Amino acid sequence: MASDLPAWIEIHGHPLYAAQDAPQRRTERRSAGIFEEFLKAQRQDPRTEWEMVVELDGRMIGTVGLRNPRSGTGVLGWGFHPDHWGSGYALEATEALMQFARADLKLIRLEAWIYASNQASQALALKLGLHLEATLRSRVRWGDGWMNDCIYARVYED
Ligand SMILES: CC(C)(COP(=O)(O)OP(=O)(O)OC[C@H]1O[C@@H](n2cnc3c(N)ncnc32)[C@H](O)[C@@H]1OP(=O)(O)O)[C@@H](O)C(=O)NCCC(=O)NCCS
Repeated sequence: MASDLPAWIEIHGHPLYAAQDAPQRRTERRSAGIFEEFLKAQRQDPRTEWEMVVELDGRMIGTVGLRNPRSGTGVLGWGFHPDHWGSGYALEATEALMQFARADLKLIRLEAWIYASNQASQALALKLGLHLEATLRSRVRWGDGWMNDCIYARVYED
């Protein structure tokens, strides 16, 4: 909802959260742009993007997302306010979204693209049953340098 924007900006602007993104991408303008895209996605027909909001006491504390860019495959994303890290919310919410992806959308492959420096996200992906499929070397501009990008995936036909 549009009213979630202040909480979204607060989450993404938190130094611990922002540290997981490339330095040149840590701007409020970019965060607001992503939020705007999520609102637009609600009007898609057919819909190919979903962002599930997790609330605590009526305030957004995080989101988990699913994009369905091609037949059969979904791409997962997640992010929570650092005050709530380690509470199990990310795991629980993503498992629910994966259930939707499999049962309702009939997806057979789920991916998560994670920067090599992001240890928490990689641990979460493994806990969700995804496996490291590939490390794309120096794929992401990271300030003055480059960062590897890791593709984690789970295929339900395995
Ligand atoms: C990744 C993120 C969503 C994890 O959120 P979280 O609330 O800590 O996750 P949960 O509490 O649900 O933890 C689930 C599991 O993930 C793993 N995990 C999470 N954080 C971890 C860390 N810092 N180190 C090791 N494992 C970690 C653990 O296996 C944990 O299960 P366990 O506690 O039973 O061992 C959170 O760190 C975050 O929002 N990061 C910033 C945004 C981001 O990086 N988004 C992803 C971009 S690809």
